[in-house]
Amino acid sequence: MSNVVLAANGLNKSYDDAGEKLVVLDSLELTVQAGETLAIVGASGSGKSTLLQLLAGLDTADSGDVSVAGIDIRGLSPAKLGRLRNQHMGFVYQFHHLLPEFDALENVAMPLLLAGKSTKEASERAATMLDRVGLVKRLKHRPSELSGGERQRAAVARALVSEPAVVLADEPTGNLDQENAMQVFELMLELNQQTNTAIVLVTHDEHLAAKMPRQELLQNGKLVTL
Ligand SMILES: Nc1ncnc2c1ncn2[C@@H]1O[C@H](COP(=O)(O)OP(=O)(O)OP(=O)(O)O)[C@@H](O)[C@H]1O
Ligand SMILES: [Mg+2]
Repeated sequence: MSNVVLAANGLNKSYDDAGEKLVVLDSLELTVQAGETLAIVGASGSGKSTLLQLLAGLDTADSGDVSVAGIDIRGLSPAKLGRLRNQHMGFVYQFHHLLPEFDALENVAMPLLLAGKSTKEASERAATMLDRVGLVKRLKHRPSELSGGERQRAAVARALVSEPAVVLADEPTGNLDQENAMQVFELMLELNQQTNTAIVLVTHDEHLAAKMPRQELLQNGKLVTL
């Protein structure tokens, strides 16, 4: 049995740049094993966010395929893709994307409610997760009532609460000071150890990248193992 949770084969993506073809991804290959953690680094504009969008099924490649938990996402209906994403993937972005009108507990419970869990189970698991990320005293706080670091920790809790196969994180610490960045980063690795959720972390921070067991450089549309 294969333990691959995420795979990209021969991914190509170009944009039309004022009549010129801008090649962003060029026959890119990526395989992520269950529980693996890896950093993707690369110059600004090298295509890191584009790659993550394709891996998440939020954008489509010109050619090539992506599979999540062994399922080829190409050709899935939007509803099926949505379910696959909810079931097997978590996301953390530079800006938290928490829903402003809901408190921390409700935000973290959301993926579980969408997956059809009862309100009671979703709330309990969300509270446990918020406890793990050090926010047990902030359950009723809305995002506007949390600090930047707390918001990112809540976003990490939301991404991991359903124990997905893989979390895609695009600069999750990019908006934080060094201390909070390290806290959020270490938290992600700790949760990885506990849940075996694989983590693909895009970061500009060489210091953080260097702490990851696997580092890939996105350059000229391809990944190069560092
Ligand atoms: N919708 C779009 N239309 C045209 N060009 C785009 C589009 N989205 C991204 N690009 C271009 O594709 C390239 C890759 O962008 P991308 O956002 O993936 O880079 P990145 O590696 O994430 O950069 P950063 O580190 O600054 O976040 C850039 O040159 C960008 O200008
Ligand atoms: Mg980017």
